[in-house]
Amino acid sequence: MLGKHLYTEKLLEELLHRASTAHECGSVMKRVKIPFAPSLEVEFTDREKGVEQVFEWAEKGTGFPVVIYGPEGCGKTSLLLQAVEILKEMNYNVIYFNPLRRRFEAEVGIESVRQAILDHLKQVSTEHEFAKLIWLVIDVAVEALKHGKKRIAIIVDDAFQFMGVKEAAALVKGMLEIIEHPEESYERIVAVAATSEGLSRFEIGRHRWAEIRAMWNMPREGFEELYNRIPGPKPSFDDVWRLTGGNPALLSRLYQARWDANAVIHLLIEDKGISPSFISKWRKWLEEAVRDPDTLWAPDAPQELINELIERNLIVYIMHRRLEYRWVDTPPPEKDLELGIGRHIAWQTPLHREAIKRALQEL
Ligand SMILES: Nc1ncnc2c1ncn2[C@@H]1O[C@H](COP(=O)(O)OP(=O)(O)O)[C@@H](O)[C@H]1O
Ligand SMILES: [Mg+2]
Repeated sequence: MLGKHLYTEKLLEELLHRASTAHECGSVMKRVKIPFAPSLEVEFTDREKGVEQVFEWAEKGTGFPVVIYGPEGCGKTSLLLQAVEILKEMNYNVIYFNPLRRRFEAEVGIESVRQAILDHLKQVSTEHEFAKLIWLVIDVAVEALKHGKKRIAIIVDDAFQFMGVKEAAALVKGMLEIIEHPEESYERIVAVAATSEGLSRFEIGRHRWAEIRAMWNMPREGFEELYNRIPGPKPSFDDVWRLTGGNPALLSRLYQARWDANAVIHLLIEDKGISPSFISKWRKWLEEAVRDPDTLWAPDAPQELINELIERNLIVYIMHRRLEYRWVDTPPPEKDLELGIGRHIAWQTPLHREAIKRALQEL
């Protein structure tokens, strides 16, 4: 009898495990709806590998906080929103913070915590003030553990751009403390932060407080699926791919600009503050870099220029080796000069490179 009981339990465990493996869950996963353009929502598309990785984190917990870096608009926020759904379905108490979207949710089912958050939220008006509430995330997680919650997910998105690099690193350290030295025991903790703010990466990496992962624009097939979801007449997929390199935010921009690539290029020149003085100061290096971004990898490449390009979200500097465990979702190719991707340095998208190219010609 006992033997049979054990056997059933083992079988049950095995079945549960199988049911929770990425593929099966992925196929029945409820896909979140994401705003794509005014009055157009799309379903979360592709990112199959990324979704599988989220399931793995959910199954085991993250040993370190995972910090995801990637080009602006590549799809980090969308993946995290999908991750929140997955984690909730897997019985996690999710704490979600995003100052850019002014969202702070704590599904921890503790009335006092909920009330404290609401009280704080009442007092803020700007994104910067909102961002200052970030430390509450740690407090809420500690509180949830005290209340006996066993599975906790802390998801922090788009917060680092409002903080100094040291502060961002300290936050990650705070997340690590909860994982490593919790006041109460727990079953699993998943902690993930995402940002396009490239400079903090080196500060966080230096202390080894996090597992730093890179994320790239969408792979070609998945991006085509997204392209197919856009209604109305549009240029060929090849053209759109060559311009965006799979960046969904730029796909949205192009769609909203009625596919006028020049309009988007000029928007980028203005948004990125690419001024005549910037261009004339760095002309020689920039001319080389638009041809091959890896020319900025040369030992004598000026660090000042590199930092400016990182800060303006024009390049990704020091691209991770293309090993699966260093990336979220599919890594980019080793090198693809047509898309502006070098082995070590890449333009965030071909349109970002185009903005510099155009400025070099016109200014
Ligand atoms: N997997 C996806 N499926 C559908 N749309 C997406 C996906 N990823 C990104 N998008 C679209 O691209 C836009 C920008 O993506 P977002 O996740 O905000 O990028 P990031 O956070 O990296 O800047 C989103 O608002 C959404 O419209
Ligand atoms: Mg984002």
